[in-house]
Amino acid sequence: MANLNIIEFPDPRLRKIATPVEAFDADLGRLIDAMFETMYSAQGIGLAATQVDVHKQLLLLDVSETRDQPHVYINPRIIESEGSETCEEGCLSVPGIYAEVSRAEKIRISARDPDGNLFEEALDGMHAVCFQHEMDHLKGKLFIDYLSPLKRRMVRKKLEKQRRQEIQNATGPRM
Ligand code: NI
Repeated sequence: MANLNIIEFPDPRLRKIATPVEAFDADLGRLIDAMFETMYSAQGIGLAATQVDVHKQLLLLDVSETRDQPHVYINPRIIESEGSETCEEGCLSVPGIYAEVSRAEKIRISARDPDGNLFEEALDGMHAVCFQHEMDHLKGKLFIDYLSPLKRRMVRKKLEKQRRQEIQNATGPRM
């Protein structure tokens, strides 16, 4: 299956609010497979459907070193949270940018699996951080939204510069 295109900041589609998944069918299974392939090939630890321009409440993650612990969360909710932890985050939709973000240290979540069964889990560490980051995507929120306006402007400039360099590299010198 082909990799899906990951949309990047400041694309306005990253601001769309995801709606609940209602059909737990073969199409959903195919979307999940394609999203995992996309996430692994981009070397990401998490991916929200929003990032591949599908505005459904679906996120996946694999925070293991061995890249063999896939988790799928459909219609996810955070039902309890405690503590606070600051961690450096990056995002496949904001390439090359890393920043410290504070989030709940431990969370309890509920979600549905690909067959539509409801389950609950207690998460901590990077698993909890990544889950909260991906949940934000489903609400149209990015980790850089937590930064000060000044820092966010710096991020935007850095990304614009990166893109200009990519274009120059792609086309080579013009004479
Ligand atoms: Ni992200």
